[in-house]
Amino acid sequence: MLLGRTKPVRDRVLAIVLATVGITLGVILLAAAGAAVGLWEWPPQPSSGFGVACGLLGGAIVLFEMLMLPRKWLRGKRLGSTRAWMRWHIWMGLIGLPIILLHAGFGFGGPLPATVMILFLLVTASGIWGLILQQWLPEKMLHDIPGESIASQIDRLGHYHADEAGRLITSLVTVPPEAESSEPVVVGPLAAELIAFRDQELVPYLQSGSYSRSLLATPSDAQQRFSRLREAVPPAARSVLERLQELADLRRRWDEQARLHFWLHNWLLLHLPLSVAMTGLMLLHAYRALKFW
Ligand code: HEM
Repeated sequence: MLLGRTKPVRDRVLAIVLATVGITLGVILLAAAGAAVGLWEWPPQPSSGFGVACGLLGGAIVLFEMLMLPRKWLRGKRLGSTRAWMRWHIWMGLIGLPIILLHAGFGFGGPLPATVMILFLLVTASGIWGLILQQWLPEKMLHDIPGESIASQIDRLGHYHADEAGRLITSLVTVPPEAESSEPVVVGPLAAELIAFRDQELVPYLQSGSYSRSLLATPSDAQQRFSRLREAVPPAARSVLERLQELADLRRRWDEQARLHFWLHNWLLLHLPLSVAMTGLMLLHAYRALKFW
């Protein structure tokens, strides 16, 4: 979710960090003030009246946070805008953090409560991290790579371009049957160098990108490599080398896009399953704790 999209990214990220710290400290200070005037004890005890009240409130907030799931499944039904849900999800998530910390008396307790606490902290941290990533990655993707291919197609297109590059180099170093001249455009040691470049660097790079560990993944190295080859080949071959460089540049930009795409989505792989596991264990913890209270 983009917050206040007219504001610079730095301000938005700063606002998220300040809101997190501000709300956490604010709620804890309020609770400390309550303890100072004798409303409850300090530090809070999980099983005191105040501790249990914080636990129930924190649990209700967690259940509210989990409404994101049915809300997603029922998209299309009139349940309010996604934006409004996200806003509530974020604010309640931020308020939930100090309430759960107060409930736990800033400790971890036995194995089950400690597991729930660690999962809760991870879910909250991943949520905040994801929100921060959502502020700057989409903008960076649009800015760096306008209108480029989508991440899932990169490898397929890479193979397609590798075929093209292979064919182009072959056309420089061999004579096609229908050609009039009897000599290829590039001959001798330079032809051998081009073939080695095709097989050992360019084709693997276009097929697998940075995984190929090719020098072409680094813009300055690629620039140097292509300039040298362009100057060495006869003028008739230069346009082919320009096209090859274009293909390598495209692959580099796609890899960068795939990297950003990965970062934009991978936090949810933590946030979602951990939140489900945490809610299950939290309900078990609440059931056990309230039974013996
Ligand atoms: C400050 C705390 C939190 C923040 C900033 C936050 C942020 C987010 C964001 C940005 C999304 C939307 C992902 C998307 O773009 O689709 C999301 C989804 C979700 N969050 Fe949180 N969250 C927080 C706390 C929590 C907590 C405490 C829970 C559970 C107890 C939780 C459970 C979920 C679930 C179940 C989803 C739906 C995942 C999906 O779309 O597949 N979140 N959260």
